[in-house]
Amino acid sequence: MYLGLDLGTSGLKAILIDDAQSVVATASSPLAVSRPHPGWSEQNPQSWVEAAEAAFADLQQNHSRHLAAVTGIGLSGQMHGATALDATDKPLRSCILWNDTRAAEEAAEMDANPAFRKLTGNIVFPGFTAPKLAWMRGHESELFKATRRVLLPKDYLRLWLTGETVSEMSDASGTSWLDVGGRTWSGELLAATHLTESHMPRLVEGTEASGTLRPALASRFGMKEAVVAGGGGDNAASAIGMGTISPNAGFISLGTSGVLFVSNAAFSPDPESAVHAFCHAIPGQWHQMGVILSATDTLNWFANIVGSDAGALVGALGSDLSAPTGITCLPYLSGERTPHNDANIRGSFIGLGHETDKATLTRSVLEGISYAMADNLMALTSAGAAPKRLMAVGGGSRSDLWLKMLATLLDLPIDIPEEGDFGGAFGAARLGMIAATGANPSAICTPPPVARSVTPDAALKEAYQAQHQRYRALYPALKGLPQ
Ligand code: XUL
Repeated sequence: MYLGLDLGTSGLKAILIDDAQSVVATASSPLAVSRPHPGWSEQNPQSWVEAAEAAFADLQQNHSRHLAAVTGIGLSGQMHGATALDATDKPLRSCILWNDTRAAEEAAEMDANPAFRKLTGNIVFPGFTAPKLAWMRGHESELFKATRRVLLPKDYLRLWLTGETVSEMSDASGTSWLDVGGRTWSGELLAATHLTESHMPRLVEGTEASGTLRPALASRFGMKEAVVAGGGGDNAASAIGMGTISPNAGFISLGTSGVLFVSNAAFSPDPESAVHAFCHAIPGQWHQMGVILSATDTLNWFANIVGSDAGALVGALGSDLSAPTGITCLPYLSGERTPHNDANIRGSFIGLGHETDKATLTRSVLEGISYAMADNLMALTSAGAAPKRLMAVGGGSRSDLWLKMLATLLDLPIDIPEEGDFGGAFGAARLGMIAATGANPSAICTPPPVARSVTPDAALKEAYQAQHQRYRALYPALKGLPQ
């Protein structure tokens, strides 16, 4: 039996799979984000531990026999968060999350140092880890001085699970401290942020063992001292879950963030395009991805404003795709990553009329997020990626209407996996299985059976692509306005 834990932004999910990779149990526990200031986004690391304790307790109560049989555990999680620890490995402050843009100035300064793009293959985005430490140095100098170690969110959970400070290549790629081509910490980049390698966790590959479950936790939850695999950042772990490991295989993820992910046989950086080039969670492989900061986050924001629930709003639209609304929604609630790298831009609705009702606005939100994803496909194409079809994952992929809109706009077929959960938690469980058994990753990481595919609607393609051009024209106009 193998356990996958995915520390998401809105909740922690646990999945138990057996030797045949069938899911035998799941548990989840919600997490809240605190936004103490516009553009800021934080979580208390203690809340991650409490969410994991709740998930373990749930599995112990309802599936104790399966939990007792776990021999391998894998971790997946939201990327880029800065968890600064003191000399006793206690968090010095709340974790500054991936969608926090307070460190925009520090990021721009670091990005102007050519060593960062050269060694990491990526823009230094404000949401990445290193600029957040630079922000702490400028604004919370006492806390910066007390910092002895910096961990990514899932690696803090690993510290709780195993007592070890370890990270792995895929998540470490999003720190701006990793030599992503060489799969090793860069002393030069750490020194440029007034840190050293002693501040960093040890590195393993996602498929390798990073430690074992602490005896105290094993006996508390009635478990064995199972092996804990390196695991992966949530996107790399989802790719493992969906078997996205061969060159140009791709997926679209509609979660809090929106991600277009393509797997690569070699390191393929193209920082100019704002595409991310990161290590994959299996040795000797890399991936590219475009990331938007507010995908279902925008939909949930809108649902909250109109006093409804995102699922109900989208469900009320039915599943038939019609012509675009003509209202342009820019979903830049926390700025944007790919393709703009702009922490200051904010969202808009353009083209409202007396006739605009709640359903039309809901559709315009789905359209706006889809146009942002189409921008990401353009960026990925210019970075050399050539996906032929995409697998859909994440909460938003439950809407057929949304997937039809995306297939039409991206002009790519989108595959919907059979009933099941093939995201980060499942991928993490697979990595736990590989670390525990020594199995060959390509034998384990096969794509799930496809239930059906959504194909582009030829009759509506032109209308959606024309509307995408109007959407693209708005960013340069809004960028000039004071936000
Ligand atoms: C990836 C990214 C997000 C987070 C949150 O670069 O920032 O996808 O991992 O899930």
